[in-house]
Amino acid sequence: MSTSFHFYEPRQGHGLPHDPFNAIVGPRPIGWISSRDKAGILNLAPYSFFNAFNYVPPIVGFASIGWKDSVRNIEETGEFCWNLATRPLAGQMNQTCAAVPPETDEFALSGLTPAPSRTVGVPRVLESPVSMECRLSQLIQLQGADGGKVPTWLVLGEVVGVHIDRALLKDGVYDTAAAQPILRGGGPADYFTIGPEQLFRMFRPQL
Ligand SMILES: Cc1cc2nc3c(=O)[nH]c(=O)nc-3n(C[C@H](O)[C@H](O)[C@H](O)COP(=O)(O)O)c2cc1C
Repeated sequence: MSTSFHFYEPRQGHGLPHDPFNAIVGPRPIGWISSRDKAGILNLAPYSFFNAFNYVPPIVGFASIGWKDSVRNIEETGEFCWNLATRPLAGQMNQTCAAVPPETDEFALSGLTPAPSRTVGVPRVLESPVSMECRLSQLIQLQGADGGKVPTWLVLGEVVGVHIDRALLKDGVYDTAAAQPILRGGGPADYFTIGPEQLFRMFRPQL
């Protein structure tokens, strides 16, 4: 147990060369979000402030720092898809974060193929081994502890359809590591991926 801790209050600054927040709360799964605007123009962008929040019904969510095209589209149509970003797709995932005008289709920009969804009008990424079709359930503007509004929006969606590459189902059980998901660390460029060597099992205590 260490007796020396760096302590900081974020509103007063972290006092370190880089803000450690992202590196500490990490690695984070990536919400690779496809959406479509009213006119039908497609959009694809990565969001690492992303996670799952509920089992039944399954709910996923991501936070957009600023009112970005993905949020605007999802507010307009009420739909989006989450696509799994994997090690083989890392370079193309990165291309889709480019700050391009709303009329630019990031599928075309990154050489990815839009595949029709079953339950929503927004396409998924064909090359991704797992996609979830989602319907917007809540769109929440974040606020600080003082109640002051923050220019960040949390987009929550109910998962209404799931596509899984059968190669990732071993005897019907989804193999997380086999998908080679990529996860975001801190700093400008840190990512992690996982393999079977990171797996350990621990069951809950039986009372
Ligand atoms: C791995 C990765 C994770 C990102 N996570 C976020 C995030 O959580 N929130 C956010 O607002 N932007 C995030 N960005 C930046 C957005 O992807 C970028 O602003 C993008 O242009 C937004 O696209 P859109 O305007 O088409 O929605 C991330 C970028 C990368 C490469």
